[in-house]
Amino acid sequence: METDQSAIPPSDPFALFEVWFAEARESEPNDANAMALATASPDGFPSVRMVLLKGYGADGFVFYTNAESHKGEQIRANMRAALLFHWKSLRRQIRIEGPLEEVGEEEADAYFHSRPRVSQIGSAASDQSRPLLDRQLYVDRVAALEERYPEGDIPRPPHWTGFRLSPRRIEFWRDREYRLHDRRLFARESAEDAWSNTLLYP
Ligand SMILES: Cc1cc2nc3c(=O)[nH]c(=O)nc-3n(C[C@H](O)[C@H](O)[C@H](O)COP(=O)(O)O)c2cc1C
Repeated sequence: METDQSAIPPSDPFALFEVWFAEARESEPNDANAMALATASPDGFPSVRMVLLKGYGADGFVFYTNAESHKGEQIRANMRAALLFHWKSLRRQIRIEGPLEEVGEEEADAYFHSRPRVSQIGSAASDQSRPLLDRQLYVDRVAALEERYPEGDIPRPPHWTGFRLSPRRIEFWRDREYRLHDRRLFARESAEDAWSNTLLYP
């Protein structure tokens, strides 16, 4: 359990994310990089699911997925999203909101081929979010890919790609004594702007 009870400092939000994420990797039992990804259809229907953070830096937060999935369709129609980390072991939450852009082909290829071969095959064989009449069909597709590419990397399917969220709002929440929690919101209008930051009532 953390011992530092000082308020969330008004530092650069990326630096603060880095510190909190490092602490989460030490304290979470698994997948400290798991985050909820919220997307919405153009007519305003929201949808949320977990994905893994696979890159981050001053230019944004990156996840990978199948662009023909349910989320992929929503993203194509509405290139805005929200991310949420909740690290139970630290009693902390980070909310991130902003526009998305697709990563370049080279970046997607590099990440896809950094994954274990079995993961490459699993995602290449999956029509993510579409009906699967019988699980055996998926198993057969995996076997067919293994036979077609008996060794080495699998070509990245063009619809398997990454998206980078360029944050416009990043909010840090931490548990404090007597439920007088701390919230600090960093906001900016565009990626070129400086961050404003302010405490919020919990
Ligand atoms: C911890 C965790 C991590 C996940 N990571 C990813 C991921 O990085 N990319 C992905 O496409 N799906 C990931 N999934 C599966 C998604 O939550 C979801 O089931 C899938 O992407 C289909 O979502 P959709 O139908 O809304 O497109 C993860 C699930 C869990 C529980």
